[in-house]
Amino acid sequence: MKNLLTCAPINYNKCMTIQDLRQVFHQRFGNECVVYASPGRVNLIGEHTDYNGGYVFPGAIDKCIYAGIRLNGTVRVRAYSLDYNEYAEFGLQEEDKPSQLWARYIFGVCRELQKIGHAVSGFDTVFFGDIPVGAGVSSSAALESTFAFALNDLLSLRVDKFELARVGQATEHNYCGVKCGIMDQFASLFGKEGHLMRLNCATMEYENYPFNPKGYKVVLLDTLVKHELASSAYNKRRESCENVCRHVAARHSEVKYLSDATREMLQEVKDEISQEDFMRAEYVIGEKQRVLDVCDALEKGDYETVGDRMYGTHYGMSKLYEVSCDELDFLNDIAKACGVTGSRVMGGGFGGCTINLVKEDLYNTFIATAQEQFAVKFGHKPKIYDIVISNGARKVVDGHSSV
Ligand code: GLA
Repeated sequence: MKNLLTCAPINYNKCMTIQDLRQVFHQRFGNECVVYASPGRVNLIGEHTDYNGGYVFPGAIDKCIYAGIRLNGTVRVRAYSLDYNEYAEFGLQEEDKPSQLWARYIFGVCRELQKIGHAVSGFDTVFFGDIPVGAGVSSSAALESTFAFALNDLLSLRVDKFELARVGQATEHNYCGVKCGIMDQFASLFGKEGHLMRLNCATMEYENYPFNPKGYKVVLLDTLVKHELASSAYNKRRESCENVCRHVAARHSEVKYLSDATREMLQEVKDEISQEDFMRAEYVIGEKQRVLDVCDALEKGDYETVGDRMYGTHYGMSKLYEVSCDELDFLNDIAKACGVTGSRVMGGGFGGCTINLVKEDLYNTFIATAQEQFAVKFGHKPKIYDIVISNGARKVVDGHSSV
């Protein structure tokens, strides 16, 4: 075994292949590894609804975290992140928590598996990803899901994918400081090529919807803005929702989550809550209906309605939930001005991407206009990601995936 800490940094480029990953693993650890992958996600509509027991409508994308892993027969994890060119080594007890955030995701998954009664043993791993970080496409959920899926497989734990998603979510809560919902981990684990999934986050029932909008493209425009206080602002939104829910539930015991509340119920508690909390709740209640509208419209091939609701979500996230920023609002305005069918901020917000449903014949003009005008105003171009809806977590065999 090589001394990893003194091992020279490996030169790699961003276009790593699975073969490169296997080779780096071999160089670092002197062994073969098994490779697993788990993707990031998009969400067509249904934002900040998951922790409110509402609907989300995500799909997995063709960008993943890839990890080579091998059990090492010890009780320690040795992990090398190719993207950060950093190495971390840690044990599996609570006091062994590593300092690097990326390593804490892996540690958290191990700990959360242990907390639900599974024996986790040590392993070696090398990993990289092609998911943009901080863009709102859930690179962190992909990281958690990769390791949760891999350990479940390598250690034959027989944990179902819902439980693996909860392990990822609990990792965010307990080791990374974000009180997130379940959408991202669910999408990363359950993704199905060519399909979006409508998940009811209160019951965890879901339905696959074929998603192949003929004549349209789905494209993400990344502002490259990363909000430093995004996790505390996110947690604050969640607290507002829980506060409103408590007030409504005091009068209507059938209300378990804010998404169960109606506009009338919200009006009843208006004087008991702050104006800010009222606005947050207005957005959440409106968003529930927008998801249902979009699902109906998709079944009829009515993309105009899909797009209209996407703009509705953007408005709500910007003006009521207040999780947008100037750059995102600017891209949304450009999309509207160009005649793009639907556009909105995607994911938690506070930066990251807009998701756009664009007619194919408008695509080039829209991208060129957005890039040019955005660069004039903010000094850099947004990044463009074309989206392919793909499969979820899997083992990768010889460069091919087996779910
Ligand atoms: C982040 C969280 C999700 C969800 C979205 C907003 O991505 O991780 O659980 O709340 O924000 O819809």
